[in-house]
This record gives sequence, structure tokens and C-alpha cells, in this order.
Amino acid sequence: MTDKTADILAQGEACGGSLGRADLSHLLSLPDFSEDERALFDAAYRVKCRTIGRRVSVRGLVEAGNVCRKDCFYCGIRASNKNVSRYTLAKDDIVRLAHLARELDYGSIVIQAGEEVSDGHAAFIEDVLKAIAPLDLGVTLSLGEQSEETYRRWREAGASRYLLRIETSDPVLYAHLHPASHRWEERRACLDALRRLDYQVGTGVMCALPGQTADDLARDILFYREIDADMIGMGPYIPHPDTPLAAMAPPLPGEERLHLALRMIAATRLLMHDVNIASSTALQALAADGREQGLRAGANVLMPNITDVEYRAAYRLYAGKPCLSETAAQYRRKLDARLKAMGEEALYGERGDSLHYAAKSRRH
Ligand code: 5AD
Repeated sequence: MTDKTADILAQGEACGGSLGRADLSHLLSLPDFSEDERALFDAAYRVKCRTIGRRVSVRGLVEAGNVCRKDCFYCGIRASNKNVSRYTLAKDDIVRLAHLARELDYGSIVIQAGEEVSDGHAAFIEDVLKAIAPLDLGVTLSLGEQSEETYRRWREAGASRYLLRIETSDPVLYAHLHPASHRWEERRACLDALRRLDYQVGTGVMCALPGQTADDLARDILFYREIDADMIGMGPYIPHPDTPLAAMAPPLPGEERLHLALRMIAATRLLMHDVNIASSTALQALAADGREQGLRAGANVLMPNITDVEYRAAYRLYAGKPCLSETAAQYRRKLDARLKAMGEEALYGERGDSLHYAAKSRRH
């Protein structure tokens, strides 16, 4: 290992928050499969074990609908994609899946869907939240950009976490990946509104986007710290054939994208010791054990899909989405053995709130 890498890792391990842009950029540029990269993953994993333990939080992921008003150039469920059969789960279906999460002993659920903005939709989600409140699950929403009033309504109805990836912290790169009507500043403002409402705030980016550099990604990590994020969700960019971005630029080879995403997880962990970091499904699209590799690189959250399998293919953000036919119960049966093989265990029945958020609340 080079002295430079060793110094940066020692500094990050000793004191979260101490790494600068050049340090992060160095870590993100380490060659795939190199000794230095291995050392990065190991250092991040040690930080995760020391801060959080050899424990993994599990949330049941409900893909509640794929109707979307946005038209992001990379996303398979963008509004202009006519090859998608659109669905919206009924309230009873979502409530049933929340019960399933409890039966599987997952202490939290994530309700994710395409972005819809209307009074009817806000009221629908509020109704769902009230109906599942007696289950006492941790509830994360991932429903895109909404008004502060809507976020407040949902917070009061029982949601305590919100995921809204910034996608890239660079407004110029953001503009290349979205139509002009999608504004980076508005997305950023949503993160501030969520913070004001005392949500546990999650954000993140896609890694290995066309035109994105290691330095861009280093700034993304600093952005997470700047907004004091509690949760981070990141994954590799994976082209979807029905999208403009797939036609515009060939991606890096899959292995390079996977490794870059893993280095992002590890570098983020070295900067932010106590945040929740998800090992995303997109990692598994590039390698069968991609999510385990994410945990090994410092992530501590898994979000197994519990949506009924009949809807899974319709909620396809990128090509090669894994777990299209594996039911929630089948995944659950394998989960313990997979984690045990890594010396980890699932935090069943617990909400698994962000330690970072808890520490902040204690200070205030
Ligand atoms: N590849 C990887 N991730 C994607 N997302 C959307 N499209 C893709 C893609 N082609 C991610 C975005 C979004 C999240 C729900 O899915 O980061 O925020």
C-alpha cells in the first residue's frame, strides 16, 4: 500500500470528518482490486463495526407505484417511457405489505414510488401512514419532491425518515441528466425542508454516471456532510435501454462501476462514521453478491424488496434489476445464512434509526 493511502485511511479511521476533497478523490481513484482498495474497504468496515457493531438494519421495501411526473434521462420509469405498464398499489395492499414486514420481523419499511404531486396523492399517503401506525414500524418515505406542507402532513401521520437522492451535488452535471424543468436548487431546498421537519434525512448519488469524475464524487461526499445527512443511499448507474442517457453514452464496464460504487460507500463511511448507509439493490445488479460487498465496504442497511412479485418488473429503474421473482419470504429465509457467513447479524424487530440522528437529538 502507498504511504499516501495509509495516511489517509489512518486519519479517516481515527477521526471522521477529517478528510478533505483531495483525500476523498485519492480514495475514489484507487485501482480496482488493488491492495490499496482492499485496505480502504477494510478500514471502512472496521469503522462500521466499531461504531455500529456487526449488525445490519433491514427494511422491507415497498414499491408502491411507478407513475412518475418526472422525466430524468437515466430512469426507466420516466414519464415519457411508453413501454412501462403503470400501476399504483391500493391502500389495502400497502397495509398488507406493512403487516408482512412485521411478520418477517423487519422493524422498518420504505415506501417508495414515482413522484406524484396532488392533494389526492398527499391525502392517500397520509391515509396509508395512519393505517400502518399501529404496527409501530419505522417508516421511511421515498416519494420525491413535495411541498413542505405535504412533507409536514406525512411527518405528522407517522413517517420519520425520508430518502431523496440529490443524484449529483453538481448543478451543472444535474442539468445534463435532467430536462430543464427539473431544478437542482429545488431538490436541494426539499432536503432543507425535510431537515426543518425533523425527519431523518437520507440522500445520495448515482456513481459512474457519464461525465462524472472522481473529484465530482468527492464533492458529493462533502455535500452529504454539508447537509448533515443521517442516511446515505448510493449505487452504480445502470443504463436502461428505454432512456435517453443509455443512447447518449456507453457506461464504464460493469466491474469498474461496481468498484467505484463500493469505494464511494467506503469513503463515505470514513468521513461519516455514524450515518446509516444502504447497500443498494443496484449493486446486486452488477454482481450476485453485490450487496454483501457493499456491507463489507462499510454499509449497514439492507432493503429487501417485499413488493408482490407481479409488480416488480414494472418498477424497473434500470436494466438487469435483480430479485424479480424471489418472494419476500424466500429472501428472508436466506438472509440469516448470508449474513452469518460474513460474521454479521440482522437487527430483527428494531427500527434501526440512524445513530447520527440520535446523537444530534441528544445534543439539542
Ligand atoms: N441506474 C441506477 N440508479 C438509478 N436510479 C434511477 N435510475 C437509475 C439508473 N438507471 C436511482 C436514482 C433514484 C433512485 C430511486 O433510483 O438515484 O433516486
